[in-house]
Amino acid sequence: MVKVNDNYLKLQGSYLFSNIAKKVNGYVEAHPEAKIVRLGIGDVTQPIAPEIINTLHEAVDEMGNADTFKGYAPDLGYEFLRNAISDYDYKKRGCSIDPDEIFVSDGAKCDCGNIQEIFSVENRIAVCDPVYPVYVDSNVMAGRAGDYDKSTEKYSSVIYMPCKEENGFMPEFPTEVPDLIYLCFPNNPTGAVMTKDKLQEWVDYANKNGSIILYDSAYEAFISEDNVPHSIFECEGARTCAIEFRSFSKTAGFTGLRLGYTVIPKDLVVDGVKLWDLWARRHGTKYNGAPYIIQKAGATIYTPEGRKQIEQQIAYYMENAKYIYNGLKEAGYSVSGGVNAPYIWLKTPDNMTSWEFFDYLLEKANVVGTPGSGFGPSGEHFFRLTAFGSRENTIEAVDRIKNL
Ligand SMILES: Cc1ncc(COP(=O)(O)O)c(C=O)c1O
Repeated sequence: MVKVNDNYLKLQGSYLFSNIAKKVNGYVEAHPEAKIVRLGIGDVTQPIAPEIINTLHEAVDEMGNADTFKGYAPDLGYEFLRNAISDYDYKKRGCSIDPDEIFVSDGAKCDCGNIQEIFSVENRIAVCDPVYPVYVDSNVMAGRAGDYDKSTEKYSSVIYMPCKEENGFMPEFPTEVPDLIYLCFPNNPTGAVMTKDKLQEWVDYANKNGSIILYDSAYEAFISEDNVPHSIFECEGARTCAIEFRSFSKTAGFTGLRLGYTVIPKDLVVDGVKLWDLWARRHGTKYNGAPYIIQKAGATIYTPEGRKQIEQQIAYYMENAKYIYNGLKEAGYSVSGGVNAPYIWLKTPDNMTSWEFFDYLLEKANVVGTPGSGFGPSGEHFFRLTAFGSRENTIEAVDRIKNL
């Protein structure tokens, strides 16, 4: 008899953003005249930069010509892209990452969801709380998370590292040593960042204890301060304890085009097995590569004109972040994030729960944000706003909140 993977039955509720969509749709049905401003889901709103569009057109034309047509991409991704990534994202920052240590993919979500497959189901994972839900849910599906306890809102086998106001939204070393440690900085949802010294302490901890850090650096392009590392490989010893995920989604507006990459150093060895070998095998077996057209478009961000244009876009979003941060502060809210990240993390007023504040903002200001509790129990009484809206909508939303 067929049996389902009953680990899936342990997943909690539907995905956070479908709950939000349901609530917003219900409100819009009841109030069709309402002009809703959405600063909830972290999708970008600016169109793809013109230089990238030019490359896309050229690459499409290449596909229509027998001499330049491309079929399946090489397993790790095209060399022109991996060379550019290795030079620009790593060597330029003093990190020695070879093009062959870079696996190009269609985005960071798949990679950070799939990476757990190359580890034993017996490994203990540690996550920040609040957290980007993919890390936990992919481990629940694999049967690594244990059972869900409704009263604590936690899985029994997961080590949670609370990131609260008291600790500056930074994880502390857990009392039980985890095997796999998920870290994401600049952080989604809190917008917090780790200094290089602090990240070095985590690298030292991992090397000392034989743990692996799975480092999600999807928002590195938004870093504005000097003492904040863009890559975990800026830390000494990271090549023997870390895997890094990057995404073109927020850096260059590729949420709809899809491109990302994962870095696995060849020195990363567990029990005599190179993790690079396992991921290469997985990648080759279950994945057939990001399209040539998209990889070509992605390489444009490493050209001077492409870089200039995406930097302008990032600056635009970070102006939004500043407007939200300052506006809410003026309105008396306690806010953080927004300086090195496109997320603003605010404390709900009057001890409202995150969902109470969601309803309040939706009904009184017609503004949509994301309840912090949707990212984990320590996110309760917090709320996330994103800087990815248009300038006009951002200003409108902040003004409405100020006038409440
Ligand atoms: C922390 C984090 N990692 C990964 C992703 C997904 O990136 P991609 O669009 O490349 O799949 C997101 C997207 O919201 C994210 O917030």
